[in-house]
Amino acid sequence: MTRRKLLIGNWKMFKTATEARAFAADLNTESGAAQASVDLAVCPPFTAISALVEALPESVKVGAQNVYFEEQGAFTGEISPAMLVDAGVTLAIVGHSERRTLFGETDAAVGQKAVAAVKHGLTPVICVGENLAERDANQTAEVVARQTRAAIAGLSAEQVAASVVAYEPVWAIGSGRTPEPGDAEAVIDGIRKVISEDKGSTAADAVRILYGGSVKPENIAAFGAQPNIDGALVGGASLDASSFARMATALAGGN
Ligand code: 13P
Repeated sequence: MTRRKLLIGNWKMFKTATEARAFAADLNTESGAAQASVDLAVCPPFTAISALVEALPESVKVGAQNVYFEEQGAFTGEISPAMLVDAGVTLAIVGHSERRTLFGETDAAVGQKAVAAVKHGLTPVICVGENLAERDANQTAEVVARQTRAAIAGLSAEQVAASVVAYEPVWAIGSGRTPEPGDAEAVIDGIRKVISEDKGSTAADAVRILYGGSVKPENIAAFGAQPNIDGALVGGASLDASSFARMATALAGGN
């Protein structure tokens, strides 16, 4: 099974719509990103989604950083899958560690969000990862297995195959520290085995699993070269168009 490489920028709470348009204009001048033989997506804040949908080339998809699982209703501050689809969004991050730790998102809610996303044709980007205490206690495999199982519980094998998982060790996010690529590979291989147990080997072979946490143009190729790592989910280094383009090129094997 050849899985196409995927680079996703998660802007978190950075950039206004005006700043997003400037990013798109800059990216359009970076021929490397446009020509990279990898799939590209950017997940801006909700308020910059339409600006990016208009300004980015068709080849760069626009994603959401979060999505609610209800169709509509009295849920102040939430955004439904249908609203995202209508705005031109094609993928949605679910279960990012910042949502889990700062906003109380549970394993069960992440599973509901994945189901709701898929129902509306959005690709869920399911985030899993251990925190430092869990890593120090040698609980990494157990934690990511629990998070993965809960996130995919309501999805069919075919739906899992078309989804994306991002392994983001919490201690590597925004810290400048990363696991050794071989260590990330081992965790991701474990995630694939969990998916195989729950949804079968076809789904496990097809699902794209990314690494995330302090990825930069300088280190992305080493992660992407691992057999089970299909790309990266990038925060800080995705905010600059030239850095994003360099990561696309590096992931494509261009340097
Ligand atoms: P950084 O790339 O800034 O470490 O963030 C990773 C992340 O959380 C992406 O979702």
